[in-house]
Amino acid sequence: MSRLSCARLILRAAVALSLLLIPAFAQHRMYSQNDSQAKNQPWMNASLSPEERADMVLKEMTLDEKIGLVHGEGMPGWGKPRPNWYLGNGGAGFVLGVERLGIPMIQMSDAAYGVRSSAQNGRYSTALPSDLAAASSWDPEAACEYGALIGTELRDQGYNMTLGGGVNLTREPRNGRNFEYMGEDPILAGTMVGNRIKCEQAQHVIGDIKHYALNDQESGRNEVNVIISERAMRETDLLAFQIGIGIGHPGAVMCSYNAVNGDFACENKHLLTDVLKNDWGFPGFVVSDWGGTHSTVKASAAGLDNEEPEDIFFGAKLKQAVQSGQVPTSELDDHVRRVLRAEFASGLVDYPVQKAVVDVDGGFATSRDIAEHSVVLLKNTGGALPLDRSALHSIAIIGGHADSGMISGGGSAQVDPPGPPSQWQEHVWFPTSPLKAIAAKVPAVPMYFDRGTDPASAAAVAKKADVAIVFAYQWTSEGMDVRNLSLPDNQDALIEAVAAANPHTVVVLETGAAVTMPWIDHVSGVLEAWFAGNKGADAVANILFGDVNPSAKLPITFPRSDADLPHPTLVTPAEHRTRGGEDKPTFSVTYDEGLKVGYKWYDAENKPVLFPFGFGLSYTTYSYSDFKVSAGSGNEVTVSFTVTNNGRRAGTEISEVYAALPSSAGEPPKRLVGWSKKALNPGESRALSLDIDPRYLSIWDEGSNGWKLVPGTYTFMAGGSSQSLPLSGNVELK
Ligand code: BGC
Repeated sequence: MSRLSCARLILRAAVALSLLLIPAFAQHRMYSQNDSQAKNQPWMNASLSPEERADMVLKEMTLDEKIGLVHGEGMPGWGKPRPNWYLGNGGAGFVLGVERLGIPMIQMSDAAYGVRSSAQNGRYSTALPSDLAAASSWDPEAACEYGALIGTELRDQGYNMTLGGGVNLTREPRNGRNFEYMGEDPILAGTMVGNRIKCEQAQHVIGDIKHYALNDQESGRNEVNVIISERAMRETDLLAFQIGIGIGHPGAVMCSYNAVNGDFACENKHLLTDVLKNDWGFPGFVVSDWGGTHSTVKASAAGLDNEEPEDIFFGAKLKQAVQSGQVPTSELDDHVRRVLRAEFASGLVDYPVQKAVVDVDGGFATSRDIAEHSVVLLKNTGGALPLDRSALHSIAIIGGHADSGMISGGGSAQVDPPGPPSQWQEHVWFPTSPLKAIAAKVPAVPMYFDRGTDPASAAAVAKKADVAIVFAYQWTSEGMDVRNLSLPDNQDALIEAVAAANPHTVVVLETGAAVTMPWIDHVSGVLEAWFAGNKGADAVANILFGDVNPSAKLPITFPRSDADLPHPTLVTPAEHRTRGGEDKPTFSVTYDEGLKVGYKWYDAENKPVLFPFGFGLSYTTYSYSDFKVSAGSGNEVTVSFTVTNNGRRAGTEISEVYAALPSSAGEPPKRLVGWSKKALNPGESRALSLDIDPRYLSIWDEGSNGWKLVPGTYTFMAGGSSQSLPLSGNVELK
């Protein structure tokens, strides 16, 4: 077994063990309480449910203590420092606990792909591949490792709540935050984020899922009103949250900046109370996005539980509203109970945070392992890849700062490399050098490097070498969208020039999400490495030389051009603001593509794409056979088929299952309903059987305000991408 798979196994075992041991430790603590604590603080008894414990504490609390739990105490660099600023841990926010009752402070940090602001605090964190990269693994266990690592490093740095778990669908491919999310399909995205949160929270940090909901573009995010039908939101963006919450049980949901159908998300009763708390039975608390609270009485009644990062609406104003009866005490109690419950449920009370040294080597191993499962091989003609060590005499490495590092995603997700803290929206290249990693594979082969800023000089360098590898980047960040899907900084011209000079040109993309590739027919290989984390270069080198066989598949569609998007032009406000407390939305975006998000749009509109959802090549090939589909009396569908590795290399294939609903359902042509990821030796066949969750075959029925299975003929399809589905069969559902 390789060192990597061994590390992976040990980590998985540790996560599984920690999940198993929680109740046992809880018992131990219960019996180790001293008598006076048992008498005075009966909620410290860990054998009681989080609900019982929260109720007991609530009864002891004063009005001021309650108000103290429903707002933040400021964020460094955000407005004037507040009186309690010195109690913070340097993260995005914190909530005072109730010391006299043994309720700890909640110290929050952003942690999209690693713990943010670490350099700011003189600490170190692992930068994992971006969330979208991790989604390309289609591997819930990898998502679990991702979450477990972040949860551990949060605690090591003194935090007990994450602000990670982004799952806004890639409805708008130009959204600058798509790298923080999990792609365009609600079932894939929800499953991945749910597993990440489950394992993050198992480290005794409060988990968070964000940004609820429909914050699908950054342009005008504080003032945009998203207009969308109930059915469309339930089946798309909200479904990703519903699945993620169902799997991960996060303690918190972060409501988003934008408005939805007229009301800001953080004071939107329909989203927060009708859907989240009532329909889905969410027992945790709703935390506002930073500065996303707009009112006191309305927001409280709508279901907002905690204002961050300050107390503009949920401090003195809320206290006054409770005292005057405008906000019932029972409503305030509900907010407080939810915060307390999350603290007990996540283990914050029973397992106080203790700072520790971050396991740097362990983080490197996990980061590289996840990157190797996340890099997607998009094109490989004429056996361009893997590179043949014995046949290479020289390599040209071009562009993308490949001599020194790889780009990372910006904004509140930014993880700092060692060194001085980065500034807001600074372009940060992690010190993981593709040039060095490639040179280490072939120490005797001469390497040429060109910065790629001048296409002609890059072409001249490329001409001298057996193979030219162009590293192309697209930096993206919170607080901005890209204007179009083209690579920035004249990189399309660079790639064209290099490809014209060297027929063996391979492009490695480091992008936040999809980009267009006008040069695609002129290059022989393309790898999508996303934002690959702090070991990205090793992962890319391992794949380029075939030491790792790529297995990842796209969690988003790569369109041919902006003109093919549901909204060819991004809708933006007159004035661009990234943070602000507008009173009401100033402009609207109408999501009239409705259910047709991502591949569902291109399928329905018969638009050819550059690379379809679910696509990714391997250095071996797979075939599919023996399809069967059957349905039980309760519409339990089982799909079975055989997948075979036809090549001479071991590989791992992600097999995908889609369903076409009866035409009376009024759905896009097909939807992903399941997948399976299996390792296959050369020549090996595996019989797979997938039980399809009946919820994933349903539609949202606005008439009955519920999920409904439409009776009729369902077609199930299986294969290696959303556009390569060689197997299919029908079944009748009642
Ligand atoms: C972002 C959130 C983040 C928060 C705290 C906001 O601007 O939208 O995702 O958690 O800041 O940094």
